[in-house]
Amino acid sequence: MSEPIVLGIESTCDETAAAVVQGRTLISNVVASSMNEHARYGGVIPEIASRAHAEAFVPCVSKALIDANMTLSDIDAIAVSAGPGLAGCLAVGVSGAKALAWAANKPIYGINHVIGHIAVTQLQFGPFPQDTLALIVSGGHTSLLHVEDVARHIDVVGTTLDDAAGECFDKVARLLGFPYPGGPHIDRHAQLGDPHAIKVPQGLTQGKAGQQHPYDFSFSGVKTAVARWIEQRQAAGRTVPVDDVCASLADSVATVLARKAMRGCEQYDSKTLIVGGGFSANSQLRAKLLEAGRECGVEVRIPRIKLCTDNGAMVAMLGVNLVEAGVSPSAPDFPIDSAMPLTRISM
Ligand code: KG4
Ligand code: ZN
Repeated sequence: MSEPIVLGIESTCDETAAAVVQGRTLISNVVASSMNEHARYGGVIPEIASRAHAEAFVPCVSKALIDANMTLSDIDAIAVSAGPGLAGCLAVGVSGAKALAWAANKPIYGINHVIGHIAVTQLQFGPFPQDTLALIVSGGHTSLLHVEDVARHIDVVGTTLDDAAGECFDKVARLLGFPYPGGPHIDRHAQLGDPHAIKVPQGLTQGKAGQQHPYDFSFSGVKTAVARWIEQRQAAGRTVPVDDVCASLADSVATVLARKAMRGCEQYDSKTLIVGGGFSANSQLRAKLLEAGRECGVEVRIPRIKLCTDNGAMVAMLGVNLVEAGVSPSAPDFPIDSAMPLTRISM
């Protein structure tokens, strides 16, 4: 088969998305978000998100096909996020995708959303080098992965022992009164503040804990330290320097991620670092990783912002990888897996 054409469908959280990818080329990319409907609750409400998926599924898929100037018969396979994510949300996308696959008699792949976040970099930087290191930073995951073959074999090198980086940002953002999702607000304020204004701990970098967990992360201590600092300041009747708090938090988190990722590249002899997940949209992290990469001679592949946050292109791209590698499609009755492990690439 020459370049496979895959329709990718995404519905893990608050984005309903569909895209068509041919080989390494993005043909169409449609994203509908229910983010604004959750803002006043301070977090994603699963029932609201599921309903939004049910409403947006057909319009999104139809538009992705129309934009690509294709019908289902032109597609070689359908890929859909089967996990990890919110069960009700996953159920909408997976059921819809199965119906399309059955109706059009096309193979279907239930793929791992998180692995999609790194696969998507291929649309911008081309195929993965063999045995590369990858850093996943999404709302729920912060992990270093060793990617032997993105379609067949991935190992976890290190992971967060508590909060994900995105989660830590979202929690501090809530304390500062920013609406959900708070990450982008911290990013914006951090650009105006002094990153060294407040001393913020760098979890699992020093002493015995650092030695025992060279590639693991811990961000709950950072979150607690920043929260305490804000509380003390408020108790003393002093104003909270929001920009400085954001800058110091962002600097600590980005520094730890960049340092551990580079150490991992050295250990695994990888000259490339693939970066993905919603949190990789963070400007402080992007700057730190690119700088560290230049110093260490590692090519850092961070996708453009639109490909960092949840989308259908990442799902379709991983689908292309699976088709190219000759991996068997998922069984017609494959289940969703809301806690799908990172080592499982497809169902
Ligand atoms: O990958 P993603 O879209 O959803 C999951 O699959 O989990 O990641 C969402 C996370 C949220 O925690 C959000 O606050 C964070 O990514 N995020 C950011 C930025 N943009 C999104 N965090 C910091 N700075 C940003 N610019
Ligand atoms: Zn995601």
